[in-house]
Formats: sequence, C-alpha cells, structure tokens
Amino acid sequence: MNKVMDVDTLKKIRKFAEEKNHFVKRPTAKKHIDNAIKYGSVTNAAKTLTASGNPITRQSMDTSINITVRNAIAAGFEDKSLNVRATGVAKSKRWFVTSAQNNSLVHQGFVETIKVFCQHMNAEPIAIMTRYANPDKFHRGAESGVEWDHSIDGWYLDKDVSLGPKLMIAGDVKIGATSGNPLGGLDLIGRGKSMIVGHGQLQMRLVATPHGVDPKMLHSTGSCTLANYGRSQTAMKAREHHNLAGLYVEMRGEAFYIFQVEADKNGHFYFLNEHFTPDGVTNGHRPLAYVIGDEHRIHMTDKEKECLWGKDGPVETLNPECLVRHDVDDFYTRNHHHKDDLMLSMHKEKTGARLVEDELRDTASYLNWTSKGRTSYVVDSNHPNAFGKWLNRFQPKNDISNADFYMRYMGHKGLFGDSWADDDFTYFMTKFLPANERAADNVVFLTRNDQVLFAGVDITHHGDKGANGARGSANSFSKAYLKMTYGHSHSPSIFKGAWGVGTWAMKMTEQYAKGIGSWMVMDNIIYPDGARCMITHINGKWRA
Ligand SMILES: [Fe+2]
Repeated sequence: MNKVMDVDTLKKIRKFAEEKNHFVKRPTAKKHIDNAIKYGSVTNAAKTLTASGNPITRQSMDTSINITVRNAIAAGFEDKSLNVRATGVAKSKRWFVTSAQNNSLVHQGFVETIKVFCQHMNAEPIAIMTRYANPDKFHRGAESGVEWDHSIDGWYLDKDVSLGPKLMIAGDVKIGATSGNPLGGLDLIGRGKSMIVGHGQLQMRLVATPHGVDPKMLHSTGSCTLANYGRSQTAMKAREHHNLAGLYVEMRGEAFYIFQVEADKNGHFYFLNEHFTPDGVTNGHRPLAYVIGDEHRIHMTDKEKECLWGKDGPVETLNPECLVRHDVDDFYTRNHHHKDDLMLSMHKEKTGARLVEDELRDTASYLNWTSKGRTSYVVDSNHPNAFGKWLNRFQPKNDISNADFYMRYMGHKGLFGDSWADDDFTYFMTKFLPANERAADNVVFLTRNDQVLFAGVDITHHGDKGANGARGSANSFSKAYLKMTYGHSHSPSIFKGAWGVGTWAMKMTEQYAKGIGSWMVMDNIIYPDGARCMITHINGKWRA
C-alpha cells in the first residue's frame, strides 16, 4: 500500500518543510531531500549514495528525510491531490459514515458490503480521514508519505459538514488514532450540535443538557480500514478495540436517527431485519434480543407504550426472539428514595399511587401482555429490589393502607416459600399472585449470579453493581472480558464492549430527576452474529 514517494510528493514536502522553518535547524536534511529530488526518488538517491561506498551516508540521508517527513506529517502535511473527496454530502438525507486511516488497506469485504447497503438505502458513503504516524514505519526506510486507500476515492471527508441543524460530521477534528477515549473532552465542540467524529473505535456518549432539550450526542465511527498500529502498549490497545464498523444516519426534518453497524470478520453486517453482503441483501432476520431501556412501567405514558409496543414500534417491526427488561417495576408507591419527601408522598396519595400490591400486580399484567410470542428476561434490578427493602423495614401501624397486603404476603411466603432469602419481586410475580395473574412461563426472572449470553453478549447485569461490590460503570464493565449490554444509568453510552441502554421513564425527570441531564429513550438490538445497534426514540419515532 505504501506508495514509493515520488518527486512531486518530495517537492511538496520540501516546500511545506521550508515554510515551517524545518530546515533552519536541519540544513543537512534539506541537502538530502534535494538529492532525493535530483536522483528521481528517495530510493534511487539512497542507492546512488550507497554505491559511492559510504553506507553511513545512506543511513544519515534516510534518517534526516524520515525526520523531515515525520515532522511534516505532525505539522499537518498531506498531499490533498492524492485522494478524492466526497462531494454534495450536505444535500443527502441518508449517509453511511465510517473512517479510514492513512496508509492502511481497506477491508475489501466491508467496503463492498457498504456499497450494496448504500445502493439499497440510497445513502451516501463517507469515510472520515484519520491519521496515524506509526513509529515503526519511519525506521523501515525512506519510503513514506501520507495517503489513503484509493479503492474508496470519492468517500473521503476531512472537513466539518452540517448534516442538519442539530447534527454535524466533525471531519476536521483530528483525534489520536490510539486514543482509548476518542470522545473525551469534546463536549463543547460544535456547541449544541450533536457530532460524529472519525476514529477506529465505535463509541457513543451523551452530553447533559437542560430539561426539555434533546441531549447532545457524541459518536465515533469505527473504521473501514484494517487495524494497522505499531507495537507499543498504547498501539496494542488500539488494535484490540479497533472496530470494523460505521454509522448509518437518516434525517427527517431536524430529527436525526443514528444506527451503529458492526461488521463481522468478512465485512458482512446486519441492519435491523436485513443482512448485507457483497452479493446483496436478505430480509426476515430476527434479532436475538431486544434490550429495552429501563422501563419503570408506572412512569410510561400511553403514548410511550404505543411507541414501544404499537404496530409501527420496534418490537412489532423487528420481531426479536427475546426481550430483556431493566427496572421494569419502579416500586414508585413506597420507594425508599422518597420516604422523607412529604410533598411527593402527598402527591402519590392524591394521585392514587399508594398501594404496593396494585403496582406490582399491574407490572405482572404488563409483563404478560408485552411478552406474548417471545421470552422476556427480567434483569434483577435495583428498583424491583426496593420491594424487598420495603418489606425489611415495614411497620404495619405506620402505613395502614399497605398493612393488610404486607401481612398476607409475609404469611404466604412463610407458608409456601422455599426460603425467606428468595428474591421478593420474583416471589410475588411467580408464586404470590393467583395462577391467572402470575407472570407466565415465558417471563424469566434472572438472579445476579445467572449468565445469559446472546451471541457472546452478556445481558444479565443491570448496571448498578460492578465488580467485587463496587458501583457499576461503563469503564468497569468495559474491562469485563465479555461484551455486555446493561441498564441503570438512563444515560445511554457505548464504551468499548460495554453498551448501556437509556430509559423510557422520562416522566421521572418531571418529579424528581430534575436539572440538566442526559437521559434518553434508547434501546439495544443484539443481532445473530453478536453485533449490536442502538435504537433511539425521538419525538415518538425511531426511524426517519
Ligand atoms: Fe432505572
């Protein structure tokens, strides 16, 4: 791939280096580069000078030209005539955005599949140009230069482009190719606009905004070039997290929808119910699992339920084999977080949210009707766990409304339960309720020590608890050797192998999760090959 540096490129580097005053301190470098131009190429010049019988001269020439080239690249040199840029990007409404690293081969299978996808979707392919000065490369000889694989000429982008009033591609933001956190510190760049940057890792992070304003989204793309890094510890980590991936973006009015696309080792990929290869597209592929953002059922409005479960919603449309449910019950009626909040307690009393049994029974009914035709995995989560905490602390004479239920429940568990230590939410759903109201057999309640994998993705963890009793976080989950999709934070993110979903409980922000925030309605699909994609709901829609 590395192009033998020709005289024209050498002349451009010489001119660039002169403008940057590189030769002031390195007059010998100027002499060597002049020799290379005089003899037609770096290689020819080196051979000629070696033929003079002085290998030290060649080594010196190699080194000084390499330093010149390296400094020129570090100062921003590139030969803009070498690669063809994308045109008319802002005129389209659909894009497939990936990145490509300099002096690296593209993955031909992925590139051919992207072409099929773009033709099928009427989308524009974009490759943000990323740069990496592999330190190994400069010690291999004087053949160097900065260029990108010509097989995707016409896709390249190296400047900022607005895709709409709320979204931009930040093609001019240069992020270190080996950065482990490519979205770090970008919060203010682009002001209020969401932003896509080019980087070998597929990542996503939200920036908190005031209530009522959509959070600002930061995305990095993954890459269509093969992993091509050096041998340092930093480079090895970059290689490990290099994603053959891109983002499919579609726009409707001011609203945009971004879908992650992760390719397999052949470059083939799923998008919703379709599977793409260089040979074409096939339909009717069911996702293995659909991980729903924290539900907190009691807070979901009828409109939100229609968006998620209705005819045009993602569950009906995509027909996943399984559902994964986080914080499906809020335990709003008697949640310990509110026990000292008199005003909120009075609000609950006035609005009829005071009977624990009713809330749990409604959740059982909701689980049954939403799980028809597929298996629901109910993840052990902190909000359903609040029921057990409430039982531990309950004083009947202090809460007469719930005293009757408390005594009936405790009596039932004492008579029929296997162990007092069994999880109370699961016991209520599967044993306490009468047979015609219980959670059906296709609703599976997980414990925190279970492990359910979908094509290698672990869906068992809610996200509140991390390793060895510590609090969970994207950073700690990213260090688990398995890929994970988890919930809990309500602020969705993608960080290496750890993908966190959002929440459907946006109504909570009106009562007690107040102030600026980055909660968002976002779910996660797991495809049959273990690739994943976020489904984002904006203004009741998830597609443009
Ligand atoms: Fe939650």
